[in-house]
Amino acid sequence: MKAARVRPGMMFARSFLANPRRVGSVIPSSRRLIQRLLGQTNWTTIKVAVEYGPGTGVVTRALLARLPLDGNLYIFEINNEFIEYLRTSILDPRLTVVAASAETVTQVLADAGHAHCDIAVSSLPFSIMPVAIRHAIVQATAAALAPGASFIGYQYSTRWLRELRFVFRRVTVELEPRNWPPAFVFVATRT
Ligand SMILES: C[S@@+](CC[C@H](N)C(=O)[O-])C[C@H]1O[C@@H](n2cnc3c(N)ncnc32)[C@H](O)[C@@H]1O
Repeated sequence: MKAARVRPGMMFARSFLANPRRVGSVIPSSRRLIQRLLGQTNWTTIKVAVEYGPGTGVVTRALLARLPLDGNLYIFEINNEFIEYLRTSILDPRLTVVAASAETVTQVLADAGHAHCDIAVSSLPFSIMPVAIRHAIVQATAAALAPGASFIGYQYSTRWLRELRFVFRRVTVELEPRNWPPAFVFVATRT
């Protein structure tokens, strides 16, 4: 069945059952979690944004609603069904769907003519993904961000965040209980 014809909630649950360690959650993020994730940024100053793990696009849509009209958003996804769904259901000239893992971010931005990005937004299940991939993504993100720019995301455990502090010295964490499961939102700033 064509991805655009499948209900996004069903597609999400099915992808989780097929690959729980990659998808990380059985349902998409709640409105409250997305508000906590995106609500701390002054979006008027953002020209180039990247998002990791868009899934069915709940965070992507909220990001596009905040991004200036002359901004660019690059979203990185590795699940083919999600990629097809995103490409056919979100038609916005500011959006580029990248069918590749998040650690390719510096190369993708360079190929598009951007020296840096102004923000990186993650929904990746870092605490359950292979350590080597996680390290590569965090290092690539630190290299991709402009000085003073932030890497924001959510996790269901704070365990992994200690590791983030080795790369980004300024990391803040807040709990958002109105999500299933409750999630910790982190903001790591490139100093
Ligand atoms: C918890 S889901 C988040 C979906 C959506 N953003 C939300 O908040 O509801 C995690 C997503 O990360 C994607 N993903 C996992 N590893 C990835 C990687 N290395 N690069 C890009 N996307 C990845 C999965 O395919 C899945 O779509």
